[in-house]
Amino acid sequence: MDTNSKNIVNLNLKRKEKILDFSDFQKQNIKFDVSKLQEAYRQIVKTKKFDDGGGISHFGAICLTRKPGDPDSVKGSKARGIYWTKPDKSGEEVSRDINIDESEYSEFIPDYENTYFKEVFDVLSSKFKLGRVRVLLKEPRSTLSWHRDPEPRLHIPIITNPGCLMVIDNVAKHMPADGSVWITNNTKYHNAFNGGEENRVHLVACVLDYKFN
Ligand SMILES: [Fe+2]
Repeated sequence: MDTNSKNIVNLNLKRKEKILDFSDFQKQNIKFDVSKLQEAYRQIVKTKKFDDGGGISHFGAICLTRKPGDPDSVKGSKARGIYWTKPDKSGEEVSRDINIDESEYSEFIPDYENTYFKEVFDVLSSKFKLGRVRVLLKEPRSTLSWHRDPEPRLHIPIITNPGCLMVIDNVAKHMPADGSVWITNNTKYHNAFNGGEENRVHLVACVLDYKFN
Protein backbone atom coordinates (compact mmCIF):
# COMPACT_ATOMS: atom_id res chain seq x y z
CA MET A 1 0.00 0.00 0.00
CA ASP A 2 1.20 3.48 -0.85
CA THR A 3 1.55 5.36 2.43
CA ASN A 4 3.19 8.55 1.25
CA SER A 5 1.98 11.70 2.90
CA LYS A 6 0.00 12.91 -0.11
CA ASN A 7 -2.36 9.98 0.27
CA ILE A 8 -2.59 10.14 4.06
CA VAL A 9 -3.45 13.83 4.20
CA ASN A 10 -6.59 14.00 2.18
CA LEU A 11 -9.21 15.81 4.17
CA ASN A 12 -11.06 17.02 1.10
CA LEU A 13 -10.75 20.56 2.35
CA LYS A 14 -10.99 23.48 0.04
CA ARG A 15 -7.67 25.22 -0.50
CA LYS A 16 -8.58 28.27 1.57
CA GLU A 17 -9.52 26.06 4.52
CA LYS A 18 -6.14 24.31 4.54
CA ILE A 19 -4.14 27.50 4.93
CA LEU A 20 -4.07 29.17 8.32
CA ASP A 21 -4.59 32.89 7.98
CA PHE A 22 -2.79 34.85 10.71
CA SER A 23 -3.84 38.28 9.44
CA ASP A 24 -5.79 38.96 12.66
CA PHE A 25 -2.42 38.95 14.49
CA GLN A 26 -0.35 41.82 13.12
CA LYS A 27 3.21 42.20 14.32
CA GLN A 28 4.25 45.85 14.45
CA ASN A 29 7.49 47.38 13.37
CA ILE A 30 8.50 48.37 16.92
CA LYS A 31 10.44 46.45 19.54
CA PHE A 32 11.00 47.06 23.25
CA ASP A 33 13.47 45.64 25.75
CA VAL A 34 11.66 42.70 27.34
CA SER A 35 14.02 42.50 30.34
CA LYS A 36 13.24 46.16 31.10
CA LEU A 37 9.53 45.39 30.78
CA GLN A 38 9.92 42.49 33.22
CA GLU A 39 11.81 44.74 35.64
CA ALA A 40 9.08 47.42 35.38
CA TYR A 41 6.48 44.75 36.07
CA ARG A 42 8.38 43.57 39.17
CA GLN A 43 8.61 47.19 40.32
CA ILE A 44 4.88 47.90 40.15
CA VAL A 45 3.69 44.62 41.68
CA LYS A 46 5.74 45.42 44.78
CA THR A 47 3.20 48.10 45.65
CA LYS A 48 0.15 47.43 43.48
CA LYS A 49 -2.25 44.47 43.55
CA PHE A 50 -4.08 43.26 40.46
CA ASP A 51 -7.75 44.29 40.29
CA ASP A 52 -10.00 41.28 39.63
CA GLY A 53 -12.30 43.29 37.36
CA GLY A 54 -15.24 43.02 39.76
CA GLY A 55 -14.79 39.37 40.77
CA ILE A 56 -13.60 37.62 37.61
CA SER A 57 -11.72 34.43 38.45
CA HIS A 58 -8.16 33.93 37.16
CA PHE A 59 -8.12 37.50 35.77
CA GLY A 60 -6.15 40.48 36.98
CA ALA A 61 -5.59 44.01 35.68
CA ILE A 62 -3.39 46.90 36.66
CA CYS A 63 -4.29 50.03 34.70
CA LEU A 64 -1.41 52.23 33.61
CA THR A 65 -3.68 55.01 32.29
CA ARG A 66 -6.77 56.63 33.77
CA LYS A 67 -9.18 59.48 33.33
CA PRO A 68 -7.18 62.56 34.33
CA GLY A 69 -7.14 62.89 38.12
CA ASP A 70 -9.70 60.08 38.63
CA PRO A 71 -8.33 57.07 40.57
CA ASP A 72 -11.79 55.42 40.55
CA SER A 73 -11.73 55.19 36.76
CA VAL A 74 -9.44 52.14 36.90
CA LYS A 75 -11.24 50.02 39.50
CA GLY A 76 -13.61 47.03 39.35
CA SER A 77 -15.61 46.69 36.15
CA LYS A 78 -13.77 49.70 34.69
CA ALA A 79 -10.63 47.55 34.75
CA ARG A 80 -12.46 45.22 32.37
CA GLY A 81 -15.08 46.97 30.20
CA ILE A 82 -17.84 45.96 27.82
CA TYR A 83 -17.64 42.81 25.70
CA TRP A 84 -20.05 40.48 23.94
CA THR A 85 -20.25 36.74 24.48
CA LYS A 86 -22.33 33.69 23.55
CA PRO A 87 -22.71 32.02 26.91
CA ASP A 88 -25.02 29.08 26.23
CA LYS A 89 -26.39 26.55 23.79
CA SER A 90 -28.75 29.05 22.19
CA GLY A 91 -25.72 30.75 20.62
CA GLU A 92 -27.33 34.11 21.26
CA GLU A 93 -25.02 37.00 21.87
CA VAL A 94 -25.28 39.02 25.07
CA SER A 95 -23.30 42.00 26.31
CA ARG A 96 -21.50 42.02 29.63
CA ASP A 97 -20.08 44.71 31.85
CA ILE A 98 -20.11 48.46 31.27
CA ASN A 99 -19.44 50.75 28.34
CA ILE A 100 -16.22 52.70 28.58
CA ASP A 101 -15.19 55.84 26.74
CA GLU A 102 -11.66 54.71 26.01
CA SER A 103 -10.57 58.10 24.70
CA GLU A 104 -10.92 59.56 28.21
CA TYR A 105 -8.09 57.37 29.54
CA SER A 106 -5.40 59.80 28.52
CA GLU A 107 -3.38 60.22 31.71
CA PHE A 108 -0.46 57.92 32.48
CA ILE A 109 -0.78 57.17 36.20
CA PRO A 110 1.85 59.26 38.01
CA ASP A 111 2.80 56.39 40.41
CA TYR A 112 4.37 54.51 37.48
CA GLU A 113 6.15 57.40 35.81
CA ASN A 114 9.56 56.26 37.00
CA THR A 115 9.22 52.85 35.34
CA TYR A 116 10.05 51.67 31.81
CA PHE A 117 6.29 51.51 31.16
CA LYS A 118 6.27 55.31 30.81
CA GLU A 119 8.85 55.15 28.01
CA VAL A 120 6.86 52.39 26.32
CA PHE A 121 3.64 54.39 26.72
CA ASP A 122 5.21 57.51 25.20
CA VAL A 123 6.42 55.59 22.14
CA LEU A 124 3.11 53.77 21.66
CA SER A 125 0.99 56.88 22.10
CA SER A 126 3.10 58.71 19.51
CA LYS A 127 2.15 56.00 16.99
CA PHE A 128 -1.40 55.05 17.94
CA LYS A 129 -4.50 56.58 19.46
CA LEU A 130 -4.71 54.59 22.67
CA GLY A 131 -7.49 53.95 25.14
CA ARG A 132 -6.84 52.14 28.40
CA VAL A 133 -3.38 50.68 28.79
CA ARG A 134 -3.31 47.79 31.22
CA VAL A 135 -1.03 45.09 32.54
CA LEU A 136 -3.17 41.96 32.32
CA LEU A 137 -2.65 38.76 34.26
CA LYS A 138 -3.85 35.37 33.08
CA GLU A 139 -3.38 32.82 35.80
CA PRO A 140 -2.06 29.29 35.10
CA ARG A 141 -4.46 26.78 33.56
CA SER A 142 -7.19 29.33 32.95
CA THR A 143 -9.14 30.80 30.06
CA LEU A 144 -11.16 33.88 29.17
CA SER A 145 -14.70 33.61 27.82
CA TRP A 146 -15.34 33.30 24.09
CA HIS A 147 -16.03 36.95 23.35
CA ARG A 148 -15.51 40.02 21.17
CA ASP A 149 -14.42 43.52 22.18
CA PRO A 150 -15.29 46.96 20.80
CA GLU A 151 -11.82 47.61 19.32
CA PRO A 152 -8.48 46.00 18.40
CA ARG A 153 -5.90 45.46 21.15
CA LEU A 154 -2.18 45.96 21.25
CA HIS A 155 -0.23 43.25 23.07
CA ILE A 156 3.30 43.19 24.40
CA PRO A 157 3.93 39.85 26.12
CA ILE A 158 6.01 40.39 29.28
CA ILE A 159 5.92 36.91 30.84
CA THR A 160 4.59 33.93 28.93
CA ASN A 161 5.07 30.21 28.35
CA PRO A 162 4.47 27.91 25.36
CA GLY A 163 0.99 26.99 26.66
CA CYS A 164 -0.27 30.57 26.31
CA LEU A 165 -2.25 31.04 23.11
CA MET A 166 -4.66 33.56 21.79
CA VAL A 167 -7.40 32.22 19.54
CA ILE A 168 -9.15 34.51 17.07
CA ASP A 169 -11.99 32.95 15.14
CA ASN A 170 -10.47 29.53 14.34
CA VAL A 171 -6.79 30.50 14.39
CA ALA A 172 -4.54 30.15 17.45
CA LYS A 173 -1.19 31.87 17.99
CA HIS A 174 1.44 32.06 20.70
CA MET A 175 3.00 35.50 21.07
CA PRO A 176 6.52 35.19 22.52
CA ALA A 177 7.88 37.54 25.19
CA ASP A 178 10.70 38.98 23.10
CA GLY A 179 9.81 42.69 23.11
CA SER A 180 7.58 42.40 20.04
CA VAL A 181 4.38 44.40 19.69
CA TRP A 182 1.24 42.84 18.21
CA ILE A 183 -2.12 44.26 17.29
CA THR A 184 -4.87 41.66 17.41
CA ASN A 185 -8.32 41.80 15.91
CA ASN A 186 -10.39 41.59 19.06
CA THR A 187 -13.50 42.76 17.20
CA LYS A 188 -13.80 39.12 16.07
CA TYR A 189 -14.69 36.39 18.52
CA HIS A 190 -11.58 35.37 20.44
CA ASN A 191 -10.16 33.89 23.59
CA ALA A 192 -6.84 33.67 25.38
CA PHE A 193 -5.77 30.81 27.58
CA ASN A 194 -2.80 29.98 29.71
CA GLY A 195 -2.23 26.24 29.67
CA GLY A 196 1.06 26.56 31.51
CA GLU A 197 1.84 26.47 35.22
CA GLU A 198 3.10 30.03 35.59
CA ASN A 199 1.35 33.38 35.24
CA ARG A 200 1.02 35.00 31.84
CA VAL A 201 1.47 38.78 31.91
CA HIS A 202 0.89 41.05 28.90
CA LEU A 203 0.79 44.79 28.45
CA VAL A 204 -2.52 45.32 26.63
CA ALA A 205 -3.73 48.60 25.17
CA CYS A 206 -7.01 49.44 23.47
CA VAL A 207 -6.25 50.88 20.02
CA LEU A 208 -8.82 53.34 18.73
CA ASP A 209 -7.44 54.15 15.27
CA TYR A 210 -6.36 50.78 13.88
CA LYS A 211 -8.37 49.14 11.13
CA PHE A 212 -8.23 45.51 10.05
CA ASN A 213 -9.29 44.78 6.47
FE1 LIG B 1 -10.85 40.34 24.54
